[in-house]
Amino acid sequence: MNSYERLLLENKAWAIEKLNDDPDYFKRLVDVQTPDFLWIGCSDSRVPANEITGTQPGEIFVHRNIANMVIHTDLNLLSVLQYAVEVLKVKHIIVCGHYGCGGVKAAMTNHNFGIINKWIRNIKDVHRFHREEIDAIDDQDAQVNRMIELNVQEQVLNLAKTSIIQKSWKERQGPDLHGWVYDLHDGLVKPIYEMNAGTHIDEIYEFDDL
Ligand code: CO
Repeated sequence: MNSYERLLLENKAWAIEKLNDDPDYFKRLVDVQTPDFLWIGCSDSRVPANEITGTQPGEIFVHRNIANMVIHTDLNLLSVLQYAVEVLKVKHIIVCGHYGCGGVKAAMTNHNFGIINKWIRNIKDVHRFHREEIDAIDDQDAQVNRMIELNVQEQVLNLAKTSIIQKSWKERQGPDLHGWVYDLHDGLVKPIYEMNAGTHIDEIYEFDDL
């Protein structure tokens, strides 16, 4: 059996199991999705949003990319964000990074990765913003781990800098923003940075005509 064929078999078994537990399971999910959460996570295969949060299909709207970045020219992220905020009206947005993130590690080297350079340049900017703190850490792994935390914090701030979030905060006092980091060693999530709806950010980034 090819490796991909196992996925199809597992899928059949899963669908049967769901129906056995609850004959209306799929019927309920077909017509509506009303998730309370938007998850912006890393593409890393070891950090599956639903599994680590014990959530079911229908509960989390998910966007994943290398190193859980919020980049203002990324039409994919922006489209997901606008839909989640304006149509689904999610109550919480979670940016979830993870210790040992390859994207952040790569950004802290001087290697040329080709196209990926353009993506991880944004992580290098985070390094530059927090250069003093990072460079003062002796241990290299600790430097990377702190960068992972600061990167999550900066991506939460990047969310708050969008007109999508600022407009929604004004109109419906939501969603709240959360920055988390997942630890591959013990499977636990550490909250790093919280931003309640309506929090003021540097006025340079605040729109006054929403
Ligand atoms: Co990663």
